[in-house]
Amino acid sequence: MSATSPIRPVLPPDIRARKGTVPLVVLTAYSTPVARLVDPHCDIVLVGDSVGMVIHGLPSTLGVTMEMMILHGRAVVRGAQKAMPVIDMPFGSYEESPQQAFRNASRLMAETGAPAVKLEGGVHMHDTIAFLTARGVPVMAHVGLTPQSVNTLGGYKVVGRDGEADKVMADARAVEAAGAFSVVLEKVPEGLAARITQALTIPTIGIGAGVHCDGQVLVVDDMLGLFTEFRPKFVKRYAELGTMAGEAIAAYAADVRSGAFPAPEHSFPDVVPVKK
Ligand code: KIV
Repeated sequence: MSATSPIRPVLPPDIRARKGTVPLVVLTAYSTPVARLVDPHCDIVLVGDSVGMVIHGLPSTLGVTMEMMILHGRAVVRGAQKAMPVIDMPFGSYEESPQQAFRNASRLMAETGAPAVKLEGGVHMHDTIAFLTARGVPVMAHVGLTPQSVNTLGGYKVVGRDGEADKVMADARAVEAAGAFSVVLEKVPEGLAARITQALTIPTIGIGAGVHCDGQVLVVDDMLGLFTEFRPKFVKRYAELGTMAGEAIAAYAADVRSGAFPAPEHSFPDVVPVKK
């Protein structure tokens, strides 16, 4: 699938129609090879702005740029034949006005070939989401813990306890009313996530929001054990690829130092043997 292919096999209305049926499976990817691995098993492949922390070593998602999202988005769209790619709008690319959001969302779609974008925020993003969806930009919303607001939230805390539940519910209802085709619920208590999932007609996709959402998303490097800087409680490790990679690299270094690598089978003889 390239940026010039107009119709993908899964589009936002298909995702919306999955409400209340088989749970939606979503993983992030930032490169073509990982998108190829994720593609056969997932409904959506999210090019999350987590790319900044996971791939570029940034301390938060705040330093992620449009150029980074376009580069990684193109790579993922090349690798995802079946699953629907969604590209995160980076911090600072949509908050100023609906017009700014449209300019940058349409650029992400045109330059990557992805059929949808994701942005963070609830009630205060209602008008922006409505502006985008009315103009051909399908929007996945993101409420609860919104990592781009880490400084105003005061950290990566659970959102929706201690009297905050009504606000999270209002945010979820607002993005639905604005036309979002689905909404990520991040680090929301599971009972509240269940109530939001029941109240909305669009699918909820949980990350740290319990089992009652319409789907689940994880950062692929977290669940594969490749990103080990920190490990949120909601991450289940399905593999320890970071440990395996470290062991493989140590074995290579030992082989080079001992002369065990390269062996004759990895080398080229001076004379080509004559075939009989
Ligand atoms: O950036 C990201 O990877 C995300 C998911 C964690 C939902 O927004």
